[in-house]
Amino acid sequence: MSFKIVEQAPARLNRSELAVPGSSPQFFEKAAKGAADVIFLDLEDAVAPDDKEQARKNIIEALNEIDWTGKTMSVRINGLDTHYMYRDVVDVVEQAGDKLDLIMIPKAGTAEDIYAIDMLVTQIEAAKGYKKRIGFEMIIETALGMQNVFEIAAASPRNESLHFGVADYAASTRARTTVIGGPNRDYGVLTDKEEGKERDYHWGDMWHYPIAKMIVAARANGLRPIDGPFGDFSDPDGFVAQARRAAVLGCEGKWAIHPSQVALANEVYSPSEKEVTQARRILEAMEQAQKEGKGAVALDGRLIDIASIRQAQVLVKKSEQISAAE
Ligand code: GLV
Ligand code: MG
Repeated sequence: MSFKIVEQAPARLNRSELAVPGSSPQFFEKAAKGAADVIFLDLEDAVAPDDKEQARKNIIEALNEIDWTGKTMSVRINGLDTHYMYRDVVDVVEQAGDKLDLIMIPKAGTAEDIYAIDMLVTQIEAAKGYKKRIGFEMIIETALGMQNVFEIAAASPRNESLHFGVADYAASTRARTTVIGGPNRDYGVLTDKEEGKERDYHWGDMWHYPIAKMIVAARANGLRPIDGPFGDFSDPDGFVAQARRAAVLGCEGKWAIHPSQVALANEVYSPSEKEVTQARRILEAMEQAQKEGKGAVALDGRLIDIASIRQAQVLVKKSEQISAAE
């Protein structure tokens, strides 16, 4: 281990993160009763400029009036390049800050963006005498943000998670996409010519690099990496495939831009019975090995070592967290 100890963000379930536009208060109650781990009430891109003020009022009222028990509550403020942002922070935190767990910062571009909002929130919290510190979740969704993702991740002790905002990222990098967060058939490889064999074409994951980079930045700073939206909510198979490939790389959850995607995300990002049982067996085998003074042992013909213990511990802890929440 390094001498530098990475402090972990508060352990919250973040398997699904449901987006609810602040201009659609008719969806709030249903979201509160649903199964999403985290809900973000949106003031940014799902809200038209003329509706921003009313959406802010709706969100403040909803945070104060609706029973959000069991939910982690977030508000996505507007970008730092707009004049909406300061009022989003001032009004929401002053009037409902004690009900808010997180602020979602869109299009985070530099560490200074986070610093600026940190200063504002710190002052409001102090003035209001709030006891609970509001955390930050940053959307990495521009070329600038991806360039500076390591500094952004380390910019504030409030930071809890990084989110891959694939829609804006595509716009910013001018990537060619078909469906938001999905693959593109032009990103693939043709297998070599071989005598007497047909050549195969394999689709690749055009988002591999940015997601993998964001995951490293998140984990190196003790934050949760979260995969962003999948636009075609009439394609559950497509959603699950994208969720799984991000989970394989280390993401802890995925956005749901439609309530039907919540259960899919919860399923993909919950360890299965089988995985939990296996993790417990690994922990037992290692406990035994340690009693016998060994650093590694074999279980079912496979090597397990200290790294396996860490993985197993994470898995068992996650499953306990899920049981507690349910
Ligand atoms: C999310 O905000 C995205 O742009 O994908
Ligand atoms: Mg976006």
